[in-house]
Amino acid sequence: MRLYSSPMKEFAISERLRNLLCRSTRVTVLTGAGVSAESGVPTFRSPDGLWAKFKPEELATFDAFHRNPQLVWEWYNYRRRLMGEVLPNPGHRALAEWEKYFVDFALVTQNVDGLHRQAGSVQVYELHGNIQKNKCVDCGKPGEVPDVFDPENLPCCECGGMLRPDVVWFGELLPESVIEKAWAKTEACELFFSIGTSSVVQPAASLPLVAQRQGAYMVEINPEETPLSGVADEVFRGLSGDILPRITEYFNDE
Ligand code: OAD
Repeated sequence: MRLYSSPMKEFAISERLRNLLCRSTRVTVLTGAGVSAESGVPTFRSPDGLWAKFKPEELATFDAFHRNPQLVWEWYNYRRRLMGEVLPNPGHRALAEWEKYFVDFALVTQNVDGLHRQAGSVQVYELHGNIQKNKCVDCGKPGEVPDVFDPENLPCCECGGMLRPDVVWFGELLPESVIEKAWAKTEACELFFSIGTSSVVQPAASLPLVAQRQGAYMVEINPEETPLSGVADEVFRGLSGDILPRITEYFNDE
């Protein structure tokens, strides 16, 4: 395994990766909260991350919503406001460029902030949903939430069921068609990048290993060591907003 740290005076990548960047057609990327950190979106598991301050079992489970929907809605409205105010960073923008460069490119994300699409990515598989969307707990249809939120009058679907944020909560299954497509793109790729994720939440954490088992070259980008670091073929120890644009410079560089 090769390990590079950043910021680097002389940024370098391996000969193998350089060749793969020029020759690969099938490339799959998995992103996590770290990719949006430089936009100002808090991550979950860093010392000042969301799960250090809030308890997921009180905010991000269906039981929590059932017990106290007002509290859960307040938490999601707070995060919606925050995510509505931020912009994509150079890491998001680089990945949008990658989609134009590789013939068969798939971007699988655990992020619910929509920043990849905002940066111009089109082929995005949102494993954990999208925080700006809602769905009915009964019929599953999407629904609008009023701009002015009234905790005494929670948003409802036209069928009468309660609306909830369209994100995956702990203990819930991932949207089937999304994970199936993400899995297929992972199994078929030649080159796989795991970027800005702590690699502890399943099934996303399995994707880099699946790719590698099928013969893909697997690269990690993260300023911290993760459970994936020891098995990755190449590791860039740095910020995605710094590393991704530098990697882009190697495209077509033979
Ligand atoms: P985590 O908060 O667990 O991990 C974020 C990772 O990003 C850490 O490994 C950081 O070292 C890394 N990181 C921080 N800043 C970075 C930067 N500028 N560039 C690159 N990497 C950086 O977030 P996830 O792995 O995304 O699930 O968490 C997975 C899931 O757990 C989330 O989707 C969420 C959470 O509970 C649900 O809500 C269902």
